[in-house]
Amino acid sequence: MTAQQENSANHHSGSRENWSARSGFIMAAIGSAVGLGNIWRFPYVAFENGGGAFLVPYLIALFTAGLPLLFLDYAIGHKYHGAPPAAYGRLYKPASSLGWWQVMVSLAISVYYAAVLAWAARYMLFSVGQEWGEDTEQFLFSTYLDASKGLDFGIVPHLFYGLLIVWAFVMLILYGGVKKGVELSNRIFMPLLFLLFGVLVIKAIRLPGAEVGLNAFFTPDWNAMWNPKVWLAAYGHIFFSLSVGFGIMVTYASYLKPRTNLTGSGMVVGFANSSFEVLAGIGVFAALGFMAQASGVEVKEVVSSGVGLAFVVFPKIISSMGSGGDVFGVLFFASLVVAGITSMVSILEVPICAFQDTLGWSRTKAVTLVCGGAAVISVLLFSTRSSIALVDLVDHFANNIGIVLGALASIVLVSWFKRPLLKNLEAHVNEVSTIRLGRGWEWMLTFVTPAVLLVSLVLVVVKLAREGYGDYPMVMQWGFGWGTVALFFLGAVLLNRLRKETDQ
Ligand code: ALA
Repeated sequence: MTAQQENSANHHSGSRENWSARSGFIMAAIGSAVGLGNIWRFPYVAFENGGGAFLVPYLIALFTAGLPLLFLDYAIGHKYHGAPPAAYGRLYKPASSLGWWQVMVSLAISVYYAAVLAWAARYMLFSVGQEWGEDTEQFLFSTYLDASKGLDFGIVPHLFYGLLIVWAFVMLILYGGVKKGVELSNRIFMPLLFLLFGVLVIKAIRLPGAEVGLNAFFTPDWNAMWNPKVWLAAYGHIFFSLSVGFGIMVTYASYLKPRTNLTGSGMVVGFANSSFEVLAGIGVFAALGFMAQASGVEVKEVVSSGVGLAFVVFPKIISSMGSGGDVFGVLFFASLVVAGITSMVSILEVPICAFQDTLGWSRTKAVTLVCGGAAVISVLLFSTRSSIALVDLVDHFANNIGIVLGALASIVLVSWFKRPLLKNLEAHVNEVSTIRLGRGWEWMLTFVTPAVLLVSLVLVVVKLAREGYGDYPMVMQWGFGWGTVALFFLGAVLLNRLRKETDQ
């Protein structure tokens, strides 16, 4: 055994928890990937960026960036057996700060993800009796969110309680640990999600007018392929969607047993996530077609982005179905909740595992302190009258800068800066997997993926510097947009001082 193999074997023999079987890991990885991003983000992004033609850049992005990075995350987590700070630290000591960067990104995503989950859960109940009435937009912004245009820290009590419930529920799962918490919840929630969403999609495509929406979704606008924005959208979406680049897959792979087929599992996860995404597009656009036909307008006039699509347009669709819409509403929002919970669990597993690895904390202590701390921030910020603006700002900066920069750094580290590491990781994966990685993978990670990430990062930063983001007051953009990025840096530097375990 070489020194390196010994080192890797030692990490495997520790007292860390494992998945009970590979199927548990695959289920949890799919649970992580399939989330809010698939149900409300993908259909809209696809429609905005060429409809059916978007599937081409999307698939290219999946094969040239999503899957290569997924395999890299798996390889690092599995070989070095830790959450990002420990795993990167073992790979190359100074890189543990990159691990902490990813921990910070995960924490930032978790605080607003909980808010969207809480809204979805409340809307599931609003669906019964269609409590939103005629004007769904006014209901969302005024009645439910009590939203202010500027910065307003006034607490909206029902949002406060909703968030508390979401955090309590997710923490309860996380206290259970890897097998009895994360794995078990995924084994229950994933089949439930496929059932709920399957019924929803069947109901949707049988609605009158469904074909109008499906035509709008699938009719390719080939001209869009020449627009760089479409390609950026495809690459921008794939990381969040697959849960790569912010430490989740590194962490989940660290709980695998030593001999596990990594690439085979990755292909299953990637395929399941993309299939679910396309299925979500079919379900959502069939419903939009119904609504467009019923109100005599074109589909593009009823589509609206992100938060709006789920919480303004969907309630409208549900209302136009009459009393039968209640069931449709419950199915839709329940799917969002179930898909979101398993992703939220995976996002929090990153900081939990990081603190356990680094400070030797028990599971209970890590969940209490890490999630408790995140919950306080989440509840205090996202139950305010500014909640929806803060969700939008933190989401934009965390995804477009936090994830992209973290992913770029990890790729450049292994494919340019410490090239032999890439070979080592490849050999590690090939030793345990059925589908072998080779030149194609190396080539992607050396040229294609970093180039695309760099271009998209530069374009995003230039655009933000020139135009800012949305029409939010500057104090909010600086405080919660750039401020979030500053926190990532601060965390990467300060938390990196806690290197007790990796120093040993
Ligand atoms: N991959 C998760 C989602 O799509 C984070 O929501």
